[in-house]
Amino acid sequence: CDPEMGTQEFNQPHRPIQLLELRAHGRFGEVWKANMLDAVVAVKIMPFKEKASWLAEQEIYNLPHMKHDNILLFVGGEKHEENLWLITEFHEKGSLCEILKGNSVTWSQLCKIAESMVRGLAYLHDDVSLTRCQSKPAVAHRDFKSKNVLLKEDLTACIADFGLALKFEPGKSPGETHGLVGTRRYMAPEILEGAISFRKDAFLRIDMYACGLVLWELLSRNSCSDQPADEYQLPFEEEAGSHPTLEDMQELVVMKKLRPTIKNHWLQHPGLEQVAATIEGCWDQDAEARVSAICVQERLSQLSRTLNV
Ligand code: ADE
Repeated sequence: CDPEMGTQEFNQPHRPIQLLELRAHGRFGEVWKANMLDAVVAVKIMPFKEKASWLAEQEIYNLPHMKHDNILLFVGGEKHEENLWLITEFHEKGSLCEILKGNSVTWSQLCKIAESMVRGLAYLHDDVSLTRCQSKPAVAHRDFKSKNVLLKEDLTACIADFGLALKFEPGKSPGETHGLVGTRRYMAPEILEGAISFRKDAFLRIDMYACGLVLWELLSRNSCSDQPADEYQLPFEEEAGSHPTLEDMQELVVMKKLRPTIKNHWLQHPGLEQVAATIEGCWDQDAEARVSAICVQERLSQLSRTLNV
């Protein structure tokens, strides 16, 4: 149960890594495509002031049983003179957000992406109880969004970026945290209202709200209804633009109780209609009424089995 397992200290040699290409940047730092001997890896480079997030992310990756097909594979952490590195598996396709910007999705692609993404989230939320040191606690992601879902070559998804994640070990408090974290446009109404309870179930339901928005992003880029797919837009981009303030989001999501539009013509397709109903179950205003990740996973896998056209 060593939280710094896989972390290299100053005086240890670094892995032989050659940075190749800058692939993404965000508030945490940069993500590079890199070579590590014969393997291609991703290196997230963070400034020293992000040390808490760098350590927290490794602590989550190093929990027992965190190796899963739908969770990004962690390689290790390194301290460099200038900054902090987090090394993971690299996925050429990049994030679901990037893919949806440039591509629409067929029904079978939509099913594959949605089902594998939700399988990863359901696994993250689950506690796998074996021995005390070998148990995987339930983990809430707290920044679930299409930029934090990566796509593998076969279009299965894996969940990345655990810098804000919280683990829930039985009998222990999840530790110091505050409620207003994550990305504004994906914040559930109870976060925007400042009215969350700091219990496991409350955090998992917040992830489910964000998951509903990501499923909507997928649905909005479907190429299976009789009309061409819409241009890609982030959730609430139409209503709140590209840089919504907290007040913008509070007005839309809490006061007006608005959600992204589900277009009528999507509902003509029997599969999309059921995905849309599931999305509405994810982003319910009443957090306690939201469907769980395992329930969404089961619905999607049944749907793709019965409607695999
Ligand atoms: N963007 C962020 N993380 C990535 C990764 N591991 N592979 C490819 N693109 C990424």
